Amino acid sequence: MAQKIVFSGIQPSGSPQLGNYLGALRNWVALQEDYSCRYCIVDMHSITVRQSPAALEKNARDLLAFLISAGLDYKKHILYAQSHVRAHAQLAWILSCFTYMGELSRMTQFKDKSQKHEDNINAGLFTYPVLMAADILLFGTELVPIGEDQTQHLELSRTIAARFNNLYGDVFKVPEAYITRTGTRVMGLQEPTRKMSKSDDPASANVVYLLDEPKSILNKFKRAVTDSDNTVRFAPEEKPGISNLINIYSAVTGKDFTDIEKEFEGAGYGKFKTAVAEAVISELEPIIKKYNEIRADAAFLDDILKEGAQKADAAAEDIMRKAQKAVGFISL
Ligand code: TYM
Repeated sequence: MAQKIVFSGIQPSGSPQLGNYLGALRNWVALQEDYSCRYCIVDMHSITVRQSPAALEKNARDLLAFLISAGLDYKKHILYAQSHVRAHAQLAWILSCFTYMGELSRMTQFKDKSQKHEDNINAGLFTYPVLMAADILLFGTELVPIGEDQTQHLELSRTIAARFNNLYGDVFKVPEAYITRTGTRVMGLQEPTRKMSKSDDPASANVVYLLDEPKSILNKFKRAVTDSDNTVRFAPEEKPGISNLINIYSAVTGKDFTDIEKEFEGAGYGKFKTAVAEAVISELEPIIKKYNEIRADAAFLDDILKEGAQKADAAAEDIMRKAQKAVGFISL
């Protein structure tokens, strides 16, 4: 029987951070065992916010090297850049004609980003979720590993797929989100009521970047904002800072919340923060080691992208044709 298909994407805007890893990338690696996976560096999504072209290209290569180092098997699966595969833009156009303005205006990410970038509320920022739906639907994807912040976009992808299928028959699979219990919503260390995001100020101690030096990771955790109650207890409303640290520690070590509360009973926050930092550092250590070995090898990385683009092109062809035929484009 053919293996079920997984698709997910990550933007190369900025350097990847701990939330990306715990919410998504770690699951990308785990799902490779049982599924046929397509993993995509979504550079087309990134330009919905103004980027420095040189930085975007560098970040995309850094990210590729990180993904390989984290264990993505580019030989067995498909690892590529979105802009290298035309079908993403082609299908996005078709799907945009089956998506309503009202639906797109309700997207919280659009509302947030248009507030943050008031001087550049461009049409791409608005239709961003349509491109995301195209990414997913192109491949007959069944499962999409994402963090919680992307669930609204995934819901819309499902709506668009079902609407299209209703009109034209079964062209698309209706995908499901894959979300784990912990790590799906990592909050900022300085602002634990807002999610950690790679577009945050890199100079602040709010975000733990996956490529940070161990010393800097330890410092950021030590400076994490907490409360004055000094008990390690999971209570997100009342104790957002400590609860975020418990969530991170649980995601990295696999221990559950009550065991963690017991482990640090009477220990105080200083000891707990150091333990969380050390767990994160040792999780990332082998990845960084590999990253440092491969990052400078431009030819190796480019070859992976070229091969990935060819494989993705071929994998997208069938559904792309079906969608074009369904809407009545001339078939040859
Ligand atoms: P992006 O690049 O913002 O993030 C990549 C993945 O990381 C997850 N994530 C988090 N998880 C937990 N806590 C956090 N603080 C945190 N921050 C980010 C995101 O949920 C995501 O899974 N629109 C997508 C990229 C995309 C995509 C797709 C994803 C484009 N096409 C198709 C899945 C399928 C995005 O901006 O992710």
